[in-house]
Amino acid sequence: MMSKDEKLYIVMVGLPSQGKSTVSFRMQDVFRKNSIPTKIFNNGVLRRKYAPEMDTWSSHFYNPDNADAVELRRQFALMNIQKARQYLRGQGQVAILDATNVSKDRRALIEENLGDHPILYIQCTNNDTEIVELSIRYKVKSSEFASLAEDTAVSEFKKRIEYYKMIYEDLVEERNYLRLDSLHNKIIDEHLTDQLPLYSRIRDCLVTDVVKNLYLIRHTETYFNVEDRIGGDTDLTPKGLEQAKALGEFFQKKKIAYIFTSEKKRTIQTAQAIQRLQQGCTIVPLKEFNEIHAGICEGMSYDEIQRTMPEVYSARKADKYNYVYPGGEGYNSMKERIKIGVKKAFFLNRRTDNIMIIGHRAVNRMILSHFLYRREEDVPFIYIPQDKFYHIVATQDRKIFELKRYQ
Ligand code: F6P
Repeated sequence: MMSKDEKLYIVMVGLPSQGKSTVSFRMQDVFRKNSIPTKIFNNGVLRRKYAPEMDTWSSHFYNPDNADAVELRRQFALMNIQKARQYLRGQGQVAILDATNVSKDRRALIEENLGDHPILYIQCTNNDTEIVELSIRYKVKSSEFASLAEDTAVSEFKKRIEYYKMIYEDLVEERNYLRLDSLHNKIIDEHLTDQLPLYSRIRDCLVTDVVKNLYLIRHTETYFNVEDRIGGDTDLTPKGLEQAKALGEFFQKKKIAYIFTSEKKRTIQTAQAIQRLQQGCTIVPLKEFNEIHAGICEGMSYDEIQRTMPEVYSARKADKYNYVYPGGEGYNSMKERIKIGVKKAFFLNRRTDNIMIIGHRAVNRMILSHFLYRREEDVPFIYIPQDKFYHIVATQDRKIFELKRYQ
């Protein structure tokens, strides 16, 4: 066992678009708030700064057979390694090396130069292809890809990932590492040889969902709402469109990078009114946020259900949380997909402080139950109005839970 040391190098490992930078920022945030001097050393930042003429958007720059580029990238890595070392020689306590670091060669370079303090490798993985795709689409909006059409940029980025896959070697011999499922904030493997400083804090930080500002909104009034009908895919009424416009005006001064909705027209139409008054705002419809499927009762009013299917009505009333509509869903059976939707939204929205979800009555109840303790049997009764929204903050040192009017 190495002696206990106060200082630490954290080396991120993983293919592009797996959440490494997000995790790095999250750790830096938590450490700095706890007066632990921390700094991130990102190779991409150096590449964009010192090699702007090199077309670093091009996948060719990442081809392992492109000797010049390989050498240049090695130089950038070394530059950061040296900066990190300098930092820990001074006041710094944690240096985070944020780069792919997927080859043994690259990690050997790190180990040769950073023998003065222990190293913890954090490997990030995210196997959800839909999320990776969306994440790439977001990445290519950066200035590095400004000269390319979006689809070309996406395909260049994907080729870049393929090149990194060619040189990928798993963490095996390294003294200290952990593998993180960065979509679910879940540690899947842990291997520790040394006594590492701050380890429990790091672990805690990796598995915690931080919510800076979550705006949880229910779609505004629809034709079905007026008739008290459930499910379906109806449009907003003129009143619903007015409400959506008011929401747009309310949020106009806040920067909303993504609005996550369901695939239903009512949530998308509400989101469009907000998007109209934003810049660079993307609407992401997620199937996970579709409203509870009422099976054979879709499109019916509660009154009709009670009259024509009294057994359905009373069984649901007796145990609303666990009841499953014939041919449809129930609150409990939606739990898993809602959880996945929330994870996807948080993964994609990881760099910005404001996250907006526009859902439905049952869906929003389930989302709220992630953040608000409620007994399961009480979840299907949480108040979800259409003229107000929930604002939620849950960081280490701040908790807010408020229901606010927007007009
Ligand atoms: O009425 C709107 C609605 O979103 C329906 O589509 C859905 O079935 C219902 O609310 C869910 O609320 P509850 O579980 O209270 O019936």
